[in-house]
Amino acid sequence: MTFHVLVPDNVHQKAIGILESSAGIRVTAPGKLERAALLKSVADADALIIRSGVTADAELIEKAPQLKAIARAGVGVDNVDLDAATARAVVVMNTPGGNTISTAEHSIGLMLALSRHIPQGHQSLAEGRWDRKAFTGVELKGKTLGIVGLGRIGQAIASRAQAFEMSVIAHDPYLPPAIAAALDVPLLALDEVYARSDYLSLHALVTIETRGMINADSIARMKRGARIINAARGALINSADLAAALGSGQVAGAALDVYEQEPPPTDHPLIGLPNVVHTPHLAASTSDAQVTVAVEAAQLVVDYLLEGVAANVCNPAVLES
Ligand code: MLT
Repeated sequence: MTFHVLVPDNVHQKAIGILESSAGIRVTAPGKLERAALLKSVADADALIIRSGVTADAELIEKAPQLKAIARAGVGVDNVDLDAATARAVVVMNTPGGNTISTAEHSIGLMLALSRHIPQGHQSLAEGRWDRKAFTGVELKGKTLGIVGLGRIGQAIASRAQAFEMSVIAHDPYLPPAIAAALDVPLLALDEVYARSDYLSLHALVTIETRGMINADSIARMKRGARIINAARGALINSADLAAALGSGQVAGAALDVYEQEPPPTDHPLIGLPNVVHTPHLAASTSDAQVTVAVEAAQLVVDYLLEGVAANVCNPAVLES
């Protein structure tokens, strides 16, 4: 029996190599497919390897009657309908560790860019101005960084921020306190993190509780002049509320890598504001991370299709049926 693995997005060639060299697997890797072509191509797919740009919703799963597995080359599975997958006995797996360092480094980069107006200074010089006064920054040393979500990425940011002599606090209702204690990061109530943070870095999943958690109400509870960094998911922030707070000075600046809709609409309220630094969902986009997540995803698919071994399962209920 031969299993067909479809890779409808650009994943690193090493992943394709692993699939091609596995007896019993046939791989199709057309690169990024438009939706209509994608829905046709999944008709005989036994497994998919996807990145965040592919939406594996109920419609797609329904068009793939042979589908057994979806491997996400990355962490977030908000682009996969987990309920629809479970109902069809499709196991969904991700690669949670592969882009931790890249995402943490990007978050630190955003924090530095925000504090020192690096993109604005670059742009002004490129436009022929020599303006040093307009771009006076602030140091990270001695400031408090509040991390919302002290998982793998949050922890990697914490140790890097400590190297900058910041004091780091966090909110994470799921983390065993001993892990935070070992990192020397006090775990606090969310309101206390809001009240004490000079910088707030978001690393939470989007859930019913966290969707829009950065809004007029929570911003009012933050220290005046705080700076917000979001390299997790755009839906954590109410963009209109943050734009208003950036205008009033309640929030001094924001650095964003993610948007509720990607690409964001051209009239997005935060894009182009003078005190906002933004990048187009680049945090995990390093050659290093893309190799790691692609190779891990390919191996997950091979192990599941050929050996029946599932790891990093995001819809564990599927294994109970
Ligand atoms: C992730 O969820 O792994 C990151 O946001 C990067 C990506 O979407 O590929």
